[in-house]
Amino acid sequence: MHEFRYVGNQLHCEGVSVAALARKHGTPLFVYSEATLKGNYQRLTEALAPLNPQVCYALKANSNLAVLRTFAKLGAGFDLVSGGELRRVIAAGGDPTKCVFAGVGKTEEEIRLALKEGIHSFNVESEPELERIDRIAVKMRRKAPVAVRVNPDVDAHTHAKITTGTYENKFGIAFERVAGLYARAAKLKGIRLRGLQMHIGSQLTSAEPFEQAVRKVAPLAKELAEKHGIEFLSIGGGVGIVYRPALASGEKEWWFTGEGRKALTPARYAAALIPLLQPLGLKVLVEPGRSLVGNAGILVTRVEYLKQTGRKTFIIVDAAMNDLIRPAFYEAYHEIVAVERRARRTVVADVVGPICESGDSFCKDRMLPRVGEGGCLAILSAGAYGSVMSCNYNSRPLAAEVLVNGKRAAVVRERQPVEAIWAGEKPAGWQR
Ligand code: LLP
Repeated sequence: MHEFRYVGNQLHCEGVSVAALARKHGTPLFVYSEATLKGNYQRLTEALAPLNPQVCYALKANSNLAVLRTFAKLGAGFDLVSGGELRRVIAAGGDPTKCVFAGVGKTEEEIRLALKEGIHSFNVESEPELERIDRIAVKMRRKAPVAVRVNPDVDAHTHAKITTGTYENKFGIAFERVAGLYARAAKLKGIRLRGLQMHIGSQLTSAEPFEQAVRKVAPLAKELAEKHGIEFLSIGGGVGIVYRPALASGEKEWWFTGEGRKALTPARYAAALIPLLQPLGLKVLVEPGRSLVGNAGILVTRVEYLKQTGRKTFIIVDAAMNDLIRPAFYEAYHEIVAVERRARRTVVADVVGPICESGDSFCKDRMLPRVGEGGCLAILSAGAYGSVMSCNYNSRPLAAEVLVNGKRAAVVRERQPVEAIWAGEKPAGWQR
């Protein structure tokens, strides 16, 4: 469910016309729907209500302060992977005591910051990291709250670049080694063992791998609760969204933007996991990223040129792989629709950006609405891993971001001024 739909021939985000936003704020422009963010959060918490879970939103998916504020107000904690993300959460008014800190490369400085801010727990990803956290905590006269990330060696059946729970991946501690590590950790003065964590991958479209992983990990969690008094099990994030909606039979509108019928809904996810988790009697944490923000955002882009090469048609737009890298990096599919549906004429084309790389493409040989120069397209499901993965390649400023609430819209990130791109640079002393 999301709040982007046509009113007449105009794409709207909630009660606001997307074309009007593009005119006012320019393009490329990320537009987020607050109602969709809240709806996604509520559907997940309602589905998992029997477990009374703590949601720790994985802000790597979208860390705009306004997005964080939305979830903080709903009671969310956060799953973070850097000191920068912790500072962002604090800047947005989030509660550090509801934050879990993941990542294989936590620096000493990041560990000190997290301890000082009183985070809920570290998700420890290696033996040397555990020793480092212990050393720092002892020096600070603290007990560091810790969960170990268990790598259950379960294939998530998703894109190789976003699979994390097999022994081919750098993440977590091998299942067989976890019990021994807790036994050693229990003797460390700076460590307080609080939980067990897992995360097997991202954009999972079936509940089966989650179920398989939880079946494997639950008995271990039980054993650790009995031996070491751990209080929680975090099942990570990873619930996928519908990037390519299937058309219902008889539907001819290829720009249809509904839910695919086979989507991994919160209800299906909950139905698979509640029976496995409830008997444990442990507090449950979840770390959703994409499923909360993915379909709550679009990237609006203006058509600069239509280029016919004899062989192909290219729609050249003002957004590029630096704004949304997913198609270039993962061959990810994002639905592309017209912001203003004028005539229902179509064209088979590639939508490409202005960057000097052949990979700078949003789709290939796709049937698209025919939008002329100056018209706008919307790239859907760009709310997760969109703006956060953007960069300044080709000295392109970071796009602006707008949050919509009903009929209101607010700029929640200004378009980056071009000078800001090189603000930290200077010629070497001898070049003056
Ligand atoms: N927890 C941990 C420990 C994670 O590593 C991740 C994502 C999450 C939670 C949230 O996963 P989600 O619910 O969003 O699937 N850039 C890629 C996705 C990378 C995911 C990294 N880890 C993409 O654009 O598809």
